[in-house]
Amino acid sequence: MLVLAGVVLAIAFGWLHRHDKWIDPEDGIGYYLGITGGTLMLILLAYPIRKRAKPATRAIGSVGFWFRLHMLLGLLGPLAILYHSRFSWGALNSAFALGAMIIVASSGLVGRFFYSRVHRGYSGRKLELRSLKRDMDEMIARMEQRGIGHERILAEIQPFEDRAVRAGGNFWSSAVAVVGLGFETRRAHRRLLRAVPAGADRRTQQLRALVDDYFEAVRRAAEFAFYDRLLRLWHLLHLPLFVLLVAATVLHIVAVHMY
Ligand code: HEM
Repeated sequence: MLVLAGVVLAIAFGWLHRHDKWIDPEDGIGYYLGITGGTLMLILLAYPIRKRAKPATRAIGSVGFWFRLHMLLGLLGPLAILYHSRFSWGALNSAFALGAMIIVASSGLVGRFFYSRVHRGYSGRKLELRSLKRDMDEMIARMEQRGIGHERILAEIQPFEDRAVRAGGNFWSSAVAVVGLGFETRRAHRRLLRAVPAGADRRTQQLRALVDDYFEAVRRAAEFAFYDRLLRLWHLLHLPLFVLLVAATVLHIVAVHMY
């Protein structure tokens, strides 16, 4: 979020100063910003390569590291290009390359959101309904140990787990749960927190955190099949868009150096 906020601020600053003549895309800093942005976007391709590397190759750096770098460079590269372009479309070939880049980088942000719904962290470890269920069972047991009554658990907490596990296995039930269960869990969550005695002591804080985690896990489980399918569809779209970006960039580089 911090990186994204920084990038948004830098874009706003650049946009407000886009008429200042301190950058020339064809010369000096402006030209080198173009080369820098392009190079950063080439380096970020190490992630898909690393992801596909066979374990036996002892590739350098973890998948998680390369993925984080991919996302960082996926923002910094386009930022450099925006400054290089002086926030204007320019000639047709430039506009085509810039448009493709903006689409691919924005698509990356959407993909990151889907990805985070079906993975634990960034190392490629996919969530599984079975392990989410195990987590929820464990959290329920801990809530009971920490003083939430058995009756309340059976009436107000356990049913969410059962519904989430049922919904999360199928695309359509999961899609419906994104709205329905999403809304209901938030309401039940608030109701339950009101019932937990307020207090700043560690035990109460831990119980409240546990309740937060539980309802988050319920939503994760219920929404799983939905986001899993969306991520697959996103992959199908992202790759052709990326190929388009490469073609547009090559065309742009050739065009500006020929004419
Ligand atoms: C212009 C900049 C970018 C380019 C050229 C680019 C390119 C790519 C490529 C080629 C892939 C591999 C697709 C595959 O393995 O099938 C990919 C995957 C991905 N990118 Fe980017 N990307 C960019 C920016 C971003 C940004 C800004 C983010 C998020 C902050 C992002 C997030 C992702 C995600 C989540 C994946 C899928 C990861 C996976 O399923 O393993 N990308 N990107």
